[in-house]
Amino acid sequence: MFTLDCDRAYFFAHPERQLTPDEITRYDHALAERSRGVPAQYITGHQEFWGMDLIVTPAVLIPRPETEHVIEAVLELQASSSGIRRPEAQSPKPGARILDVGTGSGCIALALSKELPDAELFAIDISVAALEVARINAVRNQLESRIQFREGDLLAGFENNFADFVVSNPPYVGESESDEVQLEVRKFEPRNAVFAGSTGIEVIARLIPQAHAALKPGGWLVMEISGAIAEEARSLLRDWKEASIRPDLQSIPRVVQARKAR
Ligand SMILES: C[S@@+](CC[C@H](N)C(=O)[O-])C[C@H]1O[C@@H](n2cnc3c(N)ncnc32)[C@H](O)[C@@H]1O
Repeated sequence: MFTLDCDRAYFFAHPERQLTPDEITRYDHALAERSRGVPAQYITGHQEFWGMDLIVTPAVLIPRPETEHVIEAVLELQASSSGIRRPEAQSPKPGARILDVGTGSGCIALALSKELPDAELFAIDISVAALEVARINAVRNQLESRIQFREGDLLAGFENNFADFVVSNPPYVGESESDEVQLEVRKFEPRNAVFAGSTGIEVIARLIPQAHAALKPGGWLVMEISGAIAEEARSLLRDWKEASIRPDLQSIPRVVQARKAR
């Protein structure tokens, strides 16, 4: 389908279709890239997330399905804080302000902006190249007018008591666990998107106090984590309210949520 630039229906409906010499070259090149370990998404340049087709380049982490649990958590918290419990009525409090720290491809900011049309989104990344991809994805999904893109180190430069939500899928793998990380990830995905420092908790340990300052009283921090750092994350959040961790579909602790006291 990538070689022919066609959809699945065309692909199966035309078994007689012969490849042209150019298409054979394109196919051979894609196979060679894949056989040296390049993730399929960097070859095709696309990944689906929350029903959207996103552009991905080696400047950004490939969005993972488990990150969709971050979106689900924010939508549930937003619906309950608006006093609305019916699942079909997930409209936000007008003007909820959401900061997505380490936006990468923009997947989290875009999904939340799509689901919460009145929300004011800020997408932050330390990587200018990643922000460029996130901007392109916003334009392709007609969401660019609702998201502000900021280059920065975590929440530096944001005012105190500013946001209703701080959401993040931060780097959370430790260099010490590097051998356990898939070779494809280690070799091809951006290092500063995956690794946080020697233990894996370093970025989160900086982000938690910054998020506390940036949130309004009663605001929520929602963050993706791994099982390896779940206990440390819980301990760093001991002074927050209503802290809990939800598992992913493999029962691995995946999303931590905690509230700033009112
Ligand atoms: C795990 S990736 C997540 C990307 C995207 N949000 C997702 O869920 O697929 C982490 C992102 O955080 C960014 N990042 C790393 N350190 C940062 C920092 N100190 N400040 C802001 N962004 C940072 C990386 O450039 C990368 O895009």
